[in-house]
Amino acid sequence: MPRKILVTSALPYANGSIHLGHLVEYIQTDIWVRFQKMRGNTCHYVCADDTHGTPIMLRAEKEGVTPEQLIARVWLEHFDDFRAFHVAFDNYGSTNSGETRDFAEGIYRTLKASDLIAVRSIEQYYDPLKHMFLPDRFIKGECPKCGAKDQYGDNCEVCGAAYAPTDLKHPYSAVSGAVPELRQSNHHFFRLSSPTCQQFLREWTRSGSLQPEASNKMQEWLGAEGENKLTDWDISRDAPYFGFEIPDAPGKYFYVWLDAPVGYMGSFKQLCKNRGIAFDDYWKQGSDAELYHFIGKDILYFHALFWPAMLQHAGFRTPTKLFAHGFLTVNGEKMSKSRGTFITASSYIEHVKNTEYLRYYYAAKLNGSMEDLDLNLDDFVARVNSDLIGKYINIASRSAGFISKRFEGKLADHALLAKCASTSGLAGKLVEDFPNKNLLEVLQDSAEQIAEMYEARDYSRATRTVGTLLDLINAYVDATKPWELAKDPSNVQWLQGVCSVALQAFRIITIYLKPVLPQLAKDIQAFLNVGELHWQDALTLLPDGHAINAYQHLMTRLDPKCIEAMVEANKQSLQLAPPPTSQQRHAEHQQHVVAPAAEIGDATLPLKKASMIAPIAETISIDEFNKVDLRVARILMAEHVEGAEKLLKLTLDIGEAQPRTVFAGIKSVYDPEKLKGRMTVMVANLAPRKMKFGLSEGMVLAASGEAPGLFILSPDAGAQPGMRIK
Ligand code: 2FM
Ligand code: ZN
Repeated sequence: MPRKILVTSALPYANGSIHLGHLVEYIQTDIWVRFQKMRGNTCHYVCADDTHGTPIMLRAEKEGVTPEQLIARVWLEHFDDFRAFHVAFDNYGSTNSGETRDFAEGIYRTLKASDLIAVRSIEQYYDPLKHMFLPDRFIKGECPKCGAKDQYGDNCEVCGAAYAPTDLKHPYSAVSGAVPELRQSNHHFFRLSSPTCQQFLREWTRSGSLQPEASNKMQEWLGAEGENKLTDWDISRDAPYFGFEIPDAPGKYFYVWLDAPVGYMGSFKQLCKNRGIAFDDYWKQGSDAELYHFIGKDILYFHALFWPAMLQHAGFRTPTKLFAHGFLTVNGEKMSKSRGTFITASSYIEHVKNTEYLRYYYAAKLNGSMEDLDLNLDDFVARVNSDLIGKYINIASRSAGFISKRFEGKLADHALLAKCASTSGLAGKLVEDFPNKNLLEVLQDSAEQIAEMYEARDYSRATRTVGTLLDLINAYVDATKPWELAKDPSNVQWLQGVCSVALQAFRIITIYLKPVLPQLAKDIQAFLNVGELHWQDALTLLPDGHAINAYQHLMTRLDPKCIEAMVEANKQSLQLAPPPTSQQRHAEHQQHVVAPAAEIGDATLPLKKASMIAPIAETISIDEFNKVDLRVARILMAEHVEGAEKLLKLTLDIGEAQPRTVFAGIKSVYDPEKLKGRMTVMVANLAPRKMKFGLSEGMVLAASGEAPGLFILSPDAGAQPGMRIK
């Protein structure tokens, strides 16, 4: 009986690009899902953008767009990146959907009816200028322990101390710079400390749903039997907030982490509507379907405690298993923007192009545990070239030509294959382990063993096992020497036989690697002239006289120069925000408004930079400066100008009755679509200039220097069109 399986990956936040760290998880999950589908199981893979929360709200405001516009744009970017990496979701949704809202409200109401929601007043920092309560990471100040300046409200990046925002000395709002005030507000809590939740979680922990390392962590969080270490979970945030308002609680919103996992259900519900699947078959209590969440180890707390407790008490089934993985390091270190190893998916696509190289490399390293995974860039190039090209693709390129040219593309019949496929004379453990089997039988006999490795997410063992099989096939080709056989017409049958054995073997290996290399498998299916390959197809051979198509180049070597160029392109100024740390990822506030001190800490840098800047212009008086009327402008429209190489036509709102038209030389660096709605700065009293393309009524300001790039300015959040800049 085919299994019914629902699989999810963690929902990426809608305020940042997908990077190679994210891709560990999506590639890991996608390989597993593809494997399940190849096995004939019914397997659905859903995900969505995680769209709510303060950082997204503030970022949209900063860009001068609505949160809905921001999340729509990011959704498209994410969708394209995933597609390029062959991550094949059955549905990719958004938490900002009617389906997710309905489930979030329904779950909340049920928990409330079961007396599992409490309302309590809490004291929190409030920004009097922005009129909003501040999440911990939007409060900065001096570390109470070591005195380091500009530290976030939850932990110090210099000495590592963890504390409450109220412990910070000289706190200030990272949003407006104002000194925050402590204010009271009512918050809604999920009563995780209630006896019913405690008891349920103790049982669930022992139900085998967690990896051993995760289960140990759970014991730590739960404490010893009789001890109550769990505290209630604050699930509400006050307006202004981008999210779902809590039913019957005006001005109170569900905290982003409440509706994020509910997004799994929301996205699946959309799939159910599109494909006629019965939602309850997968989510009702007692369902016989399997539910797996692939997650990073940093979000275990949310998935192993809050989520199962919520589901259980809201009348839904709980996850069958959580599959947590470790973090990505690059060349043995944390991804770093300054070293160029914080690599976005789109930058990889631009420089390396073939995304299956990375899928293969990650597969070769993933073993189903929570250990971190290292992407060593030299090793990456070496492995792709030696394993994928040298050992795998070369089997086809060495044998297909003979079959096409000498035998009209036809493979030898099975009787001849059996004669030619003997492994006698070949060395190695596999030959000793299967003394009475021919080469193709040895390959076929590995099908179940490799399947078990995929099932256990031990792709590293699976690819190693395939590697051993590839060594055997290559040893076979080396020993039978088709290029020698081809020289003597009396060997023509042998030539067809051994080349056919090699191609039959190549097909079996293609089945074993298909979950990892789906596009390559598709190209190989076309070359071998076969339909969609499933796992059990490994147990049969292509029929007598099957005709293959002419060999087309299947994969090129990875040039190390592409990697160097990619790293170079990703080296960014230290003024940019760093990748979120694990703590930052699961704190509410992933988007940095101000760069943390740690990344700016290279003391030699300002000196080096100083010598590179253009000389400072002649001194002017304040009166002279005041002659320049600088205004905040909203870009209403940005368009290409026909016939203009460098210009974009901008329509700017500076609060006047009519918008202004300005031609700006920024076409090489800005996509007009992305400028629409953005706030910027313009010189409003510059004499209008008649240009070939029309009248330019001012000038937009942009920064440039020795380094490449041109950067238009943005005012801080809250600035309105027409405000004067002084
Ligand atoms: O840590 C993160 O990136 C979250 N956006 C993951 C959410 S996973 C799930 F709960 F939705
Ligand atoms: Zn400190």
